[in-house]
Amino acid sequence: MINVEGITKLYPKESSRKRGKEAVDICGLKEISFRVNEGEVFGFLGPNGAGKTTMIRHLMGFIKPDAGFAQIKGLDCWQNSREVKSLVSYLPGEMNFLEQMSGLEFLKLMSGMHGDRPIYQQRRDVLIERLELNLKQPIKKMSKGMKQKLGIIYALMLDSEVLILDEPTSGLDPLMQKVFIDLVLEEKFQGKTIFISSHMFPEVERTCDRVGIIRDGKLATVEGIQALRQAQQRTFEITVDDEGQVQLLRECGLAIVAVDGTSLTIEIQGDLNPLLSGLAQVNVKAFAQKTTELEEAFMHFYEGRNISEQGIISDNV
Ligand SMILES: Nc1ncnc2c1ncn2[C@@H]1O[C@H](COP(=O)(O)OP(=O)(O)O)[C@@H](O)[C@H]1O
Ligand SMILES: [Mg+2]
Repeated sequence: MINVEGITKLYPKESSRKRGKEAVDICGLKEISFRVNEGEVFGFLGPNGAGKTTMIRHLMGFIKPDAGFAQIKGLDCWQNSREVKSLVSYLPGEMNFLEQMSGLEFLKLMSGMHGDRPIYQQRRDVLIERLELNLKQPIKKMSKGMKQKLGIIYALMLDSEVLILDEPTSGLDPLMQKVFIDLVLEEKFQGKTIFISSHMFPEVERTCDRVGIIRDGKLATVEGIQALRQAQQRTFEITVDDEGQVQLLRECGLAIVAVDGTSLTIEIQGDLNPLLSGLAQVNVKAFAQKTTELEEAFMHFYEGRNISEQGIISDNV
């Protein structure tokens, strides 16, 4: 459904321009290639500034690639951008609304621009209820989270076969993030093809079949969600009763990376069972999972592997 081949986009480096020197081109995106199958939920995961929004702008035909091409349903995203836009529902990372309007007026206007089919109104009303949004007030009085909800309602009400969502849960509280995940899963169940960008693993883990990881404009890997789950490294901070119990945990073969009295730092990759069976033998006084940066969480995934010219990862023999 989505086919991206060798997309490259160079941007002039800001810092060199400011210093009055000749602009040096740096990469926004470098030779990005991937495919998203019909009915698949594909996560595009990477830290801030990695190139996620730039990739999405290519998919929506807002910018022209310096090299390579992107296609949706066989249509070139740049050359056939009008057709592509009518095929796709898009949630931008940053939204500019007509601030004087109320939420409802905005949705009615957008509905009209897309042919005002009765199903839009049905879907809209269900979404308004699910996301608990008050649409009567003017958009300018809405908080960031409320505007995000409005954008989600707009994107989902159109019932498009392809959804492109740029960091869709940003600004949503945990309860609404969960509602959003349910909505995505329901759309997937209906056979929609969904592309979601994110800098957080947990939300893509719940929804995506496959994930592409992008760093510094390069696609480091495309993997099934199961493989990524296995590769993810998690760090736990645990306090036990006494030093005898610390010793017991040492003997369990866990990767204990630091000990401070009766507090330990343990790293786990993939399966949590070894940790849980170790902890069953001691008295746990405190237990916390340390939040890790995306890069750190997947460091193991890159170790001992090569990224080839095509961006395909192969095992390093
Ligand atoms: N219009 C632009 N002009 C210059 N540099 C840009 C432009 N758009 C994006 N960039 C640069 O490209 C990189 C990727 O940006 P972006 O795609 O917005 O990242 P992400 O969405 O992953 O946070 C950043 O270094 C950003 O500064
Ligand atoms: Mg972005």
